[in-house]
Amino acid sequence: MFKTLPGFREFYPEDCARKNYIFGVWRRVARTFGFSEFEPPVLEQLDLFTEKSGEEIKSQLFEFTDKGGRAVSLRPEMTPSLARMVGAKAAGIRRPVKWFAIGENYRYERQQKGRLRAFFQYNADILGEESLNADAEIIALLIESLRGFGLTEKEFKLRLGDRTLWVCFLESLGVSESQITPVLSAIDKIEKVPAEAFLEMLSAAVGGAGLDVRGLAERIGNFIKLRDVDSMRSAFGPCGAIEERIDGRIRQWRELLEVLDRLGVGSFVCPDMGIVRGLAYYTGFVFEAFQTVGTGRALAGGGRYDNLVGKLGYQDMPAVGFGMGDVTVSDLLELVGKSGCVPDVPDVYFVIGSEKARPKALEIISSLRRGGLKVDYPLKASSFGKQFKQADASGAGRAFILGDDEIEAGVVKIKSLKTGEESVKNICDLA
Ligand code: HAM
Repeated sequence: MFKTLPGFREFYPEDCARKNYIFGVWRRVARTFGFSEFEPPVLEQLDLFTEKSGEEIKSQLFEFTDKGGRAVSLRPEMTPSLARMVGAKAAGIRRPVKWFAIGENYRYERQQKGRLRAFFQYNADILGEESLNADAEIIALLIESLRGFGLTEKEFKLRLGDRTLWVCFLESLGVSESQITPVLSAIDKIEKVPAEAFLEMLSAAVGGAGLDVRGLAERIGNFIKLRDVDSMRSAFGPCGAIEERIDGRIRQWRELLEVLDRLGVGSFVCPDMGIVRGLAYYTGFVFEAFQTVGTGRALAGGGRYDNLVGKLGYQDMPAVGFGMGDVTVSDLLELVGKSGCVPDVPDVYFVIGSEKARPKALEIISSLRRGGLKVDYPLKASSFGKQFKQADASGAGRAFILGDDEIEAGVVKIKSLKTGEESVKNICDLA
């Protein structure tokens, strides 16, 4: 017997209905924000991810050498491919670029609840716009994409952090430019590992730089706890040359929160310096949406990444976006009873009274289908009783019945499968 591989799902029709419902909400909401859909390839040159996504993703790649000897990988995320696609057309592209995509990604992760090796992800990104209004638009789209399922502030929140402010803070503590990315990736793990393991990661990140690692860890531990803009400012105290940068950033924080209020999503947003994000390319505001019921898992994550397009060798272009996974969203909808999907059922089950009536029945069925109705019918001769059982099991709302008598009278009998009510309709009116 063959089993599915660990972390891979198979979708039976009812699972597909659930998945398509989720994708439908995502597509509808993205379009209301003026986003257009795009699709990157599933398989890419390995370097696209090893160089751009950062250490964690690197260890999770589904990579191999193809028959042409190329080092390739299934995509673990879509952002580097998007950056390449936009970069390649940068000269002629209408800006801001507002694109979304829904597709399967692959990460060789340890399988656990909410984390699989193959998962669908909805991505939405704005490229070519550096103002805070783009960050606000992306955050609002993320929140509205979850509200589209009927989810509320009681069920999820968005934690908003800031790599720019982290960089200022780490610089003020003497961390050098080249140490900042590894220090931020250690900070990203702080909530997930024991204190000693964090200290080890931190000392590897600043290795031999003459910094007091325990003191640094303590200051970081306090900065992580900041949950409002006033305390973010006061955490710095007087700080000389970078004071102006910090004040400017604090003004941007206030402006962003104000725009988010205007967009009607402010009540979902919690400033939180504990969010730094694991991927290496983020440069500014970063955020994660978490469910606030059940296990509190991450539903989506994203942020600003202004250098990625340039790092791929194209003209620099500011960018901000998010990715939202189907696994945790689907589990959350189930948990709170808002799965709301409609199973794939026919509108009509067509009961064929005799094999003599079948040719005429097929003509009518095909014209009903062309008219947009979903119609199912028995593929072989069977009794009325069996056909009505099939009709009930199919979930159809109505049965259309055509036997020899109906053909003679030029009608089809219509029976509601919910109330049992019957009526007749002329065949020519049906067409
Ligand atoms: P990410 O945080 O790696 O970001 O993933 C975003 C979301 O994808 C997560 O919050 C989670 O819902 C889902 N996800 C990630 N890994 C798995 C997994 N193994 N199993 C199930 N779901 C998973 C990114 O991927 C960025 N590229 C997002 C982005 C777009 N940033 C800017 N634009």
